[in-house]
Order: sequence, then C-alpha cells, then structure tokens
Amino acid sequence: MQKIVIRGGCKLDGEVEVSGAKNAALPLLIASILARGEHEIGNVPDLVDVATTCKLLEGLGAEVERSRSRVRISTRALSRHEAPYDLVKTMRASVLCLGPLVARYGRARVSLPGGCAIGARPVDQHLMGLEKLGARVSLAHGYVEARARQLRGATIVFDLPTVTGTENLLMASVLAKGETVLENAAREPEVLQLAEALCAMGARIEGAGTKTLRIQGVDELGPLDCSVIPDRIEAGTLMIAAAIGKGRVCIRGAVLGHLTALVGKLREAGVEIAERDGGVWVRSPQRLRAVDVATQPHPGFPTDMQAQFMALMCLADGTSVIAERIFENRFMHALGLRRMGAQIKQDGGRAIVRGVDKLSGAPVMATDLRASASLVLAGLVAEGTTEVHRVYHLDRGYQRLDAKLRSLGADIHRSRARPPVTVR
Ligand code: EPU
Repeated sequence: MQKIVIRGGCKLDGEVEVSGAKNAALPLLIASILARGEHEIGNVPDLVDVATTCKLLEGLGAEVERSRSRVRISTRALSRHEAPYDLVKTMRASVLCLGPLVARYGRARVSLPGGCAIGARPVDQHLMGLEKLGARVSLAHGYVEARARQLRGATIVFDLPTVTGTENLLMASVLAKGETVLENAAREPEVLQLAEALCAMGARIEGAGTKTLRIQGVDELGPLDCSVIPDRIEAGTLMIAAAIGKGRVCIRGAVLGHLTALVGKLREAGVEIAERDGGVWVRSPQRLRAVDVATQPHPGFPTDMQAQFMALMCLADGTSVIAERIFENRFMHALGLRRMGAQIKQDGGRAIVRGVDKLSGAPVMATDLRASASLVLAGLVAEGTTEVHRVYHLDRGYQRLDAKLRSLGADIHRSRARPPVTVR
C-alpha cells in the first residue's frame, strides 16, 4: 500500500505534458472487439484502468501487446464473450464490452456493475437500448446476459445523457441491420472521438458530437488505427494545480475547446489562462475569488472536475456554492478537505464552501479517483505535511500525477504506508 506525501507551500513553475485521455482510451480499446484484424491505438495512457481493459480483452481471446503508449490488439480469434465479476468490480467501464460483443458475436455475459463510491450508477439505459435493438436481455446471478442473432436498427431516446451508455449503443448499432437513431446522446469529446474512430473503421455515423446520432449499420468493419485525444480532466487538474500553487505553468497538449466551462469558471475566479506557443499558460492571481459551479453533462461543467475545483474554492475570497447534479454521492473529498481546515457545509446535492486563508496538512484518505486528485491539490498549498492514503485510486486515472507535479517544483513523493486504521 502506498501513500503520497506532500509538503505544501512550493510555488509551481515550468512546463508539463498532458497524457492521453483515460475515458477516450477505454472505449477505443474495447471497440477492437467489433472487427477482426490487427488494431493499433497510440497515445494510450499508462494507467491501471488501461491495464484492466487489456486484461479484459485478453480474457475474451484477443492478443494485446503494449509498448510505451502504443497498444496493438489482434482480434483474429475471439473465443469468449464474458466480462467476469473480478474485472468489472475494479472497473465499471468493462460494461462497455456488452454492445460490441452482442453486435459481433450475438451474445455477451457481463457482470453487473454495482454502485461505487460516487453513486448508484445504474446501467438501465444501456440495457433498454440493447433491448430496443432486438437483443434478449436477462439478469441472473449478478450477470447481464444479452443475445441476438442480428441486432436491428431502432430509435432510442435516452432518459438522460449517459457517456458509456451512448458509447455502448453506438458500438452495438454500427453493426445492426438498418438505421439506428440515438436521441439525447452524450456529447463529451470522448464520445465524439469514438464515433470518429468507428467511422474510420468503416461505420456510417452522422451527427457525431451532437445530441442526435444517426447510424446506418454496415456488415463489417476494418481494424482500428487512431491516437487517443489528450485528457481534458488531467489538463484541468493541472490547471488547478497551477492556480492553487501560486504558479505560472505551461500545460502542453491541453485542448481549451474541451474545457470551455472550466476555463470560464477559472477566469471568473481570477486565474489567468492564455493559449500561447503551442501550450496553455496558467497563472494564479494574488487572491482567488469565490465562484459558484453546477456540474452538467458536456459542454457544461464536468463532474470529473468538481472535486478539484472544490479544493481551489477552499482558499478563495468569499463563499461558493458547488452543486453536483450528475452523481448523488460525489462529495466524499469534502471530508478530507475539512480535516485540512476547509469550511465546507453539505446541503443535499450542494456544498457550500467558505474560503479560508490557509489549509493545514493532515493525513487523509482518498475515496475515488477525482477525490484523490482534490486532496493532492489541497496538499500542495497546505501548511506542513499532507499524506494521501489509498493512492491506487489516483493511479487508475492519472499517469504519474505526482511525478508531473514534482517536475513543476512540488515537494511530493510516494512512500510505503500502512493505511490509517478505519474506526467503524
Ligand atoms: N445513468 C443512469 N442509467 C444509466 C446510465 C447512467 O441513470 O443506464 C445516470 C448515472 O447514474 C449518472 C448519469 O446518468 O447520474 C450520468 O452517468 P454516465 O452514464 O454519463 O456516467 P458513466 O458513463 O458511467 C462516464 C465516465 C465518468 C464520468 C461520467 C460523467 C467513463 C469510463 N467514465 O461514466 O468518469 O464521471 O461519465 O461524465 O467514461 C472518472 O473518470 O473519474 C469518471 C467517474
């Protein structure tokens, strides 16, 4: 078990590069199920969730070879059609193999993901859509089983925009017979990249990046050859690190067009952000202003940046109201931030954050991926030493965040730790 130890107060300065996006890489890797052949994906981040996805593909019978950020997948002979509990319980995105497996092999058996630290996270929209496409879907012994000799196009209206739900049904419908229309689809850049990659494989998709996707099914697809887009959430996290760490940092590879809502809020808070010389420069103000945010599906303020933004608001002048509208239980980081001296009151789906002059270092426990990042950010400015336990959450979705922050001047390192005793 590792912990991250941070001595707060170092000014951040320098340049840092954004890695490939976790949430784009996972569906792209899984899209390889859709076609026979040798697939190649570049700019794949080195993350635990990527390793889990490769294991999932190998479990299905694919051959996977990783060298640096390139992943080659050979799907000549997929022999199994199951995503077992052991993998799904560590990574919910495994559910993404449901659509492609049914579309290409006529059957899939995928362990039903349970709730997780940020909410119940049901998959009813994925299952409703597969049924609309003609699959017989049943639940038994904790597994979803779906079968269909041939999926048939249909009009599917999502009750709410779901990222992996849209991706799952997009992958199912590209091989369905006839036309599928996905209404109220998610518009995240990762969904757009998947649609573009599928088109490059021979799929026929109109409306990529909009709320309505129109898909004409084809008989078969060719292999995948693409490069993963930069991780907008990692870029946003590094922007907040610069803002909180009283620094001036250049973030290479950040795409501001993917981060419009966050950039708007950071500028409102007084953070200077400029695109120059092929990078995004971020400079923190002398004093931060409190601003309110409410998470929304893209292009709204991303739920995956809420925890990090809260860490920043802990030190702003005034009171900010942070409303979480995507996941019902995504304020666990507030517990750790409070241990560090933050003034945060929770009122249902809103957190009311009254800015304080300083935070003080403390041992804290990460509860999920973005909560870990939030605590690391707070540790960068807290007085004294912060220890963030349960680092494995961070490694699921950030490629060596601690090393990147160290390269900017942060005093941060890993050491082995016994987890703090949990008192029940
Ligand atoms: N929802 C349903 N039914 C469904 C599907 C979703 O009610 O069948 C609800 C969810 O409970 C939630 C809302 O719809 O309230 C949106 O959830 P969504 O399905 O969009 O989330 P997801 O696809 O499970 C992805 C990302 C998350 C990110 C969310 C929201 C991946 C692998 N995961 O999850 O990423 O928070 O979209 O943008 O793409 C992270 O990276 O830390 C992370 C949690």
